[in-house]
Amino acid sequence: MKSILFVCLGNICRSPLAEAIAREYIKKNSLDIVVDSAGTGSWHIGEAPCENSIKVAKKHGIDISMLRARQVTKQDFERFELIVALDSSNYADLKAMGASNLVKLGEYGYNGEDVPDPYFFNGFEGFEKVFTMIESCVVNLLKP
Ligand code: 4NP
Repeated sequence: MKSILFVCLGNICRSPLAEAIAREYIKKNSLDIVVDSAGTGSWHIGEAPCENSIKVAKKHGIDISMLRARQVTKQDFERFELIVALDSSNYADLKAMGASNLVKLGEYGYNGEDVPDPYFFNGFEGFEKVFTMIESCVVNLLKP
């Protein structure tokens, strides 16, 4: 796998974490894989990741503050070898847009579970849970 795109709804909470965790793992293990992230929605285009995602990443030694949200396009399905949806609704939206090289992140160690959207939860705890889940699945996905 040479290129992977992680996709959630807003591209400000979950998929930026997946992108950054993957990039970190790729660097540490000298792998030759390009990663990026995007959202199915357009609300947050150009925005930095949400505060709690920046905070949880920082706690784990990763800086994601420079990432900016963008919306997924059909061209992404050709540019990236693998499109990784964070939850079932992202998966369905991407499928409807025509993605075929599509999987769900939770297939890599969480029995296909959705990575829940922490945006509407209260507090920081949801982000810790989401970080752990994303990290474990991303590592399983990238493991050579
Ligand atoms: P994400 O979280 O999909 O993990 O980036 C969300 C962020 C914003 C919204 C939804 C989900 N929103 O509807 O604004």
